[in-house]
Amino acid sequence: MKMIYHIPWIYLPVRTALAIWHQLTKSEIPELAKASVLIRDRSRVEETIQAMQRAGPDALQVISDFDMTLSRFAHNGKRCPTTHNILDNDLLINDASKKMIRELLNRYYPIEIDATRTVEEKLPHMVEWWTSVHELLIQQKIRRDLLAQAVKQSSAMLREGYKVFFDRLQEQQVPLLIFSAGLGDILEEVIRQNHVFHPNVHVISNYMDFDQSGVLRAFKGQLIHTFNKREGALLHAAHFRELQERPNVLLLGDSLGDLTMADGVVHTQHTLTIGFLNDQVEERKESYVNSYDIVLVKDESMDVPNAILNYITTAPAK
Ligand code: TMP
Ligand code: MG
Repeated sequence: MKMIYHIPWIYLPVRTALAIWHQLTKSEIPELAKASVLIRDRSRVEETIQAMQRAGPDALQVISDFDMTLSRFAHNGKRCPTTHNILDNDLLINDASKKMIRELLNRYYPIEIDATRTVEEKLPHMVEWWTSVHELLIQQKIRRDLLAQAVKQSSAMLREGYKVFFDRLQEQQVPLLIFSAGLGDILEEVIRQNHVFHPNVHVISNYMDFDQSGVLRAFKGQLIHTFNKREGALLHAAHFRELQERPNVLLLGDSLGDLTMADGVVHTQHTLTIGFLNDQVEERKESYVNSYDIVLVKDESMDVPNAILNYITTAPAK
């Protein structure tokens, strides 16, 4: 192999062709040149995108996290709520519980995003966090009929360009799996109120179990937290089996735990992962760049996923 690079008449054309090709994708997806985009291996990303485009929308499935991935991390300098934090509302819970939920967030969120701890070290803390909050919500006897109003009154927002993203997937009949450690009932209400809960959307999340009078009495199924999405994926084998003819995966997340969301996919050919790095940027940049194919730093928009999606789902020029 090494010899080839020493034969001048091969070396130059190969180099030129590669350079032209790089230029080509750069101009076709100019969003990838944004300053907020970090890519470890640009050629791998370009090759993957080209291969996904050749296979087309029929071979594609999209798997996305919800909180702080499809929903915004911040707007006008103010933090936006996660699905759990949307419940921080007088309609649903009393002041003492609100205070407790905030204290739990302040205690456990720094652990969730701590770049110096391993996933194994974080695991028990995440279970404690989710379990405590869910127990508290059950004690508060949350009412199903008030959830929509709480979502309306909250400052939760989907990322800029979300409509293009959801509508394009629906138009191209590409299945979108939203895989969330948040609250399924709330997440569904957020996308419904934003008019993008299309039939191609499937949700795996923590769902509330209400009694006959519509009062929260438990949570259904296995608990999903940030770092057990692999186990969650394996429990939903039937969903992934239905999509086994779609071997190409576009994955979006904001936590390193989100990278395991595609572990249930039956047969993968090409996977492209996009990670939103919202917080603790300097501390986590290196690990994100090493783990995600594309990292978007403090980017509150869907511009890059939309541009890639548009490229993949548009037939290549003949
Ligand atoms: P995700 O998997 O959809 O991103 O949802 C999980 C996020 O929810 C995770 O980043 C932690 C966050 N969270 C809260 O903000 N408040 C809570 O009370 C809990 C349990 C989780
Ligand atoms: Mg998230």
